[in-house]
Amino acid sequence: MTKPNHIVVIGGSGGIGHAFVQELLARFPDATLHATYHHTVPTFHAPNLKWVSLDVTSAADITQFGNQFTQVDWLINCVGLLYTPEHGPEKNIESVDAQFFMRSIEINTLPTLLLAQAFFPAFKNSPSVKFAVLSARVGSIEDNGLGGWYSYRASKAALNMVVKNLSIEWRRRLKQATVLALHPGTTDTALSKPFQTNVPQGKLFSADNVAKDLLDLMAGSTPSDSGQFWDYVGREIPW
Ligand SMILES: NC(=O)c1ccc[n+]([C@@H]2O[C@H](COP(=O)([O-])OP(=O)(O)OC[C@H]3O[C@@H](n4cnc5c(N)ncnc54)[C@H](OP(=O)(O)O)[C@@H]3O)[C@@H](O)[C@H]2O)c1
Repeated sequence: MTKPNHIVVIGGSGGIGHAFVQELLARFPDATLHATYHHTVPTFHAPNLKWVSLDVTSAADITQFGNQFTQVDWLINCVGLLYTPEHGPEKNIESVDAQFFMRSIEINTLPTLLLAQAFFPAFKNSPSVKFAVLSARVGSIEDNGLGGWYSYRASKAALNMVVKNLSIEWRRRLKQATVLALHPGTTDTALSKPFQTNVPQGKLFSADNVAKDLLDLMAGSTPSDSGQFWDYVGREIPW
């Protein structure tokens, strides 16, 4: 594996994102790490870690952020939305709210497309690119046996299509890139907190372990894996 020198973590203030930041600093002490936050102002600091405030719903801000870099090797997007104070994941069609649906797309889907666009010039200067996004198994259409959660499921299914599409384009235009959609498993963070009661014993993971597992997968991946949707042990999830 070519060691990354320039790493970007989007959503480094989140449960999983923060664990990624810490694990990346431990694994690649010589790398420069840029991590973003939105509302949660970070209190953790390190010499080669630079925090940047970024609202991923602003296309202009994403473009401006990406334009600052001449080379980026790894980018991991850990941003995600499952519920707001007003809206939870829908139990039935009556609960669907147009604004909440669009907000889910705005946060869970579109930013990955805009990040790929904004960082493309910087990726071109890297010998080995890893572009990974945190998706979710519930975004799998084939795996959907339970229904519900319209906005989250649809936004993650659309994210999966973005990942697949990008991997096809970059197979031609950015041959050194590996594009991955990763499912962390149910992880003990603010996002999953209200939904943890029915999680089977041993199936609620710590963010630290998830970051380690997913980084192992990223490190071992090659461009021939690009366009895959993997769970935390590297099993392929059907689209
Ligand atoms: N936890 C799970 O069980 C689980 C399961 C499957 C998939 N996932 C996926 O894994 C990813 C990480 O989830 P998590 O559990 O770590 O969630 P989390 O702790 O709630 O973190 C969410 C992150 O998204 C950021 N964010 C939200 N809105 C934003 C915006 N408009 N602009 C910029 N950043 C924004 C938050 O930033 P601030 O806090 O700074 O506002 C935070 O960094 C998500 O994509 C999620 O869908 C999680």
